[in-house]
Amino acid sequence: AKMPSHYPKDILPEIVICGRSNVGKSSLINALTGIRGLARVSSTPGATRAVNFFRINKAFYLVDLPGYGYAKTGAHKRGEWAEMVERYIGGRPCLVGAIVLIDARRGMEEEEEALFEWLNNLGLNIAVVFTKADKLKRHELSICLKEIKTQVHCSAAVAVSSKTGLGVDALIKEIRQALLKPAAHPS
Ligand code: GTP
Ligand code: MG
Repeated sequence: AKMPSHYPKDILPEIVICGRSNVGKSSLINALTGIRGLARVSSTPGATRAVNFFRINKAFYLVDLPGYGYAKTGAHKRGEWAEMVERYIGGRPCLVGAIVLIDARRGMEEEEEALFEWLNNLGLNIAVVFTKADKLKRHELSICLKEIKTQVHCSAAVAVSSKTGLGVDALIKEIRQALLKPAAHPS
């Protein structure tokens, strides 16, 4: 959906998946649902071009977004992205939580800091997911997880690999416990 008039009308809680392009947002949706190919995945950044809603168990929606920070996207495209994403995140009362994806190999950068500030100000529950955890050693992942808790306000942090399935069950538990409950700091 590119326009709010195309968003779902059967109002259910929504959890949005945010992160830079190519970080693994769509792959995570496929891993969480266990449905390969449900969300479009590509090794070329920019695979997701609209706000895509996936209804889970008739209970809530997982929302896939286009990624930010894709260097090859021109200024015009970047504007269009920001507009589409800001319109969704900033104007959707049934949005209860956000899953912010960070590439475990890159860690947090400027864009992530801005994103956290924005989501926190909206009073959303946030879970941080370090993606592509299969690329790091276990002790490197535990450093990422320890560090993030000192850097940002979030209700959970999990390392996940959509490739091996590592951390997927832990994230499903967090979605149930943390993200679907009312926000701790409503704005
Ligand atoms: P945009 O839609 O362009 O914003 O990207 P996205 O964040 O949806 O990323 P997508 O899921 O399309 O994955 C991007 C690339 O990363 C693909 O080549 C995936 O196969 C790869 N990838 C995703 N998750 C993992 C993972 O857990 N491990 C590894 N090794 N690769 C992954
Ligand atoms: Mg995508």
